[in-house]
Amino acid sequence: MKTSVISTIALALIAGAITAALLLVDKYPQDLPPAPALQQIPPAPPIGDAIDQFLQQHWAHPLSPQGKPPKHFSHSEASLDPQQCGSCHVAQFNDWKKSLHSQTIGPGILWQLRLMNQEQANACLNCHAPLAEQKALLAMEHQWPNAPASAPPSYVPPQLGHEGLTCAACHVRQHERFGPEPRTASSHNNAPHNGFTVSAAFEDSRFCATCHQFPDDGPRTAGKLREDTLQQWQASAYPAQNQQCQSCHMPDRKHQWQGIHSPAMAQRALNISLARQGNHITTAITNSGAGHHFPTYMVPKVMVQLTLIDANNQRRLLGEDIIGWQVDVALTQETFDTRIPAGATRHFRVELPADVTSEDNIEVRVYVKPREHYERTFLSVLEQSDKLDTTTTNLLQAAYQEATATHFEWVALNKKLATIDGN
Ligand code: HEC
Ligand code: HEC
Ligand code: HEC
Ligand code: HEC
Ligand code: HEC
Repeated sequence: MKTSVISTIALALIAGAITAALLLVDKYPQDLPPAPALQQIPPAPPIGDAIDQFLQQHWAHPLSPQGKPPKHFSHSEASLDPQQCGSCHVAQFNDWKKSLHSQTIGPGILWQLRLMNQEQANACLNCHAPLAEQKALLAMEHQWPNAPASAPPSYVPPQLGHEGLTCAACHVRQHERFGPEPRTASSHNNAPHNGFTVSAAFEDSRFCATCHQFPDDGPRTAGKLREDTLQQWQASAYPAQNQQCQSCHMPDRKHQWQGIHSPAMAQRALNISLARQGNHITTAITNSGAGHHFPTYMVPKVMVQLTLIDANNQRRLLGEDIIGWQVDVALTQETFDTRIPAGATRHFRVELPADVTSEDNIEVRVYVKPREHYERTFLSVLEQSDKLDTTTTNLLQAAYQEATATHFEWVALNKKLATIDGN
């Protein structure tokens, strides 16, 4: 079977992550009986505190269709279109649009959706385009068996399937808005969209876990969960200081979600220093700014290179350290795991050549490949592209180029050998 070889590779990325039975979306909300109000859903047996209980309902996959909007809603109040939310919430829209959360349906996932059946695809969409209305639109586009026959209702814009992780996925259920405690007293008597319901969950790290943390029985390599960010954070000193995911990734409630793709964030994560012992130089690399391992997943790789630069500007590479969790494309074998836990320090030692002088400089350069694991995966599938149709190959090619275009580097230190202290 030509596709099965390839989808095994693709699916391996999260294989087994989603074992729960998935309901397929077969109708638009207008064709369904009115969705029950959230309060009428029989409560799940209480586990954890009020935040856990809110989140169990809020992220109960598959998400229910929104249903018919209240009659008095204007088009812009009813619409699930991020652009419509943005007509009032300008700052959130502008930040979100630049963030990776607005790009979760890109060529990297689209080439894979073409090789999947609807159930497999919906498991991916739970994190990449979670609204029922998005799944329905993508089902129509891929001509999956039970795609809706009718055109979407007016509050579902036709491009919604490609808009990624939209405002409504995090904030809207059955047309009701949910958000954090307002920072200033609300002054709206006649608030748009019937105002909103406050939940403390929005200010808590657990809000992000549904997509950034696999459950304990989720897929593992070398015994480690492939997605483990919340638990890494829980094991760090940050919870005690009330530094939630939002504190670093949504400062001042900004909808930016910058991470390893951002040079400023990557630089902020690391504190690098040098020490000399005789004819050795030790580089100390501390994860002083990330609230989890640096980097948190197997995807990015960070190269730290030490170079000797002499008075004539001749460069000699003394050594390179790779920080990351290196796993093969099939996700069965770990080659190394040099990630640095929050607050921890990694040491990397190189030998100086015999002919160094105290006028020589040592340069520490950091080179980041934010999507290294995907680059390797995409390349290995591209090698079999004779088994793919043209559209799929083109998307895969675009995904590979997009991934390699994310590389960046910076010079972390450049010091005269004479000024490097011993320890
Ligand atoms: C017509 C303008 C308008 C549109 C369109 C609109 N909103 Fe609002 N929204 C408001 C106003 C005004 C408030 C503040 C209400 C208050 O203070 O009582 C608000 C409040 C909110 C809040 C609560 C903020 C907090 O402090 O917790 C959230 C979340 C929210 N909107 C999300 C959305 C989303 C998502 C959309 C699109 C699906 C949207 N809104 C569309 C005007 C709008
Ligand atoms: C539990 C949530 C979750 C599920 C399910 C999931 N992903 Fe992702 N995906 C993520 C997160 C989080 C990232 C960002 C990780 C990173 O690179 O730092 C990501 C990143 C990606 C990327 C790289 C970014 C890009 O857009 O090119 C691809 C490709 C991708 N996922 C494809 C898939 C496919 C295909 C499936 C289904 C087989 C899937 N994902 C299922 C959460 C998920
Ligand atoms: C990944 C989930 C997610 C997405 C997508 C998202 N938000 Fe939010 N939003 C949050 C969280 C979490 C908070 C609370 C942050 C905090 O308290 O630190 C929030 C806060 C807000 C607030 C309150 C802001 C304030 O200053 O009090 C508004 C309004 C809002 N979001 C609107 C939007 C709009 C509009 C979009 C789309 C353009 C959007 N959100 C997309 C998760 C999300
Ligand atoms: C519904 C699923 C979902 C939720 C909820 C969610 N994310 Fe994400 N997040 C993703 C996916 C998927 C990506 C990958 C985007 C890509 O690369 O295409 C991502 C990417 C990111 C990135 C960018 C990482 C990088 O590689 O630079 C950060 C940072 C992030 N998320 C933080 C958060 C935080 C903080 C929260 C909670 C407030 C949150 N996310 C909630 C699905 C989610
Ligand atoms: C103390 C600040 C801080 C906290 C708290 C924090 N992060 Fe980060 N995060 C960073 C920095 C800095 C980076 C960039 C360096 C890196 O990739 O580790 C980052 C990177 C990321 C990335 C990019 C992918 C990767 O492999 O590193 C994701 C996804 C992410 N964070 C999600 C989260 C989630 C989810 C939480 C909460 C459970 C969280 N972060 C808590 C600072 C923080």
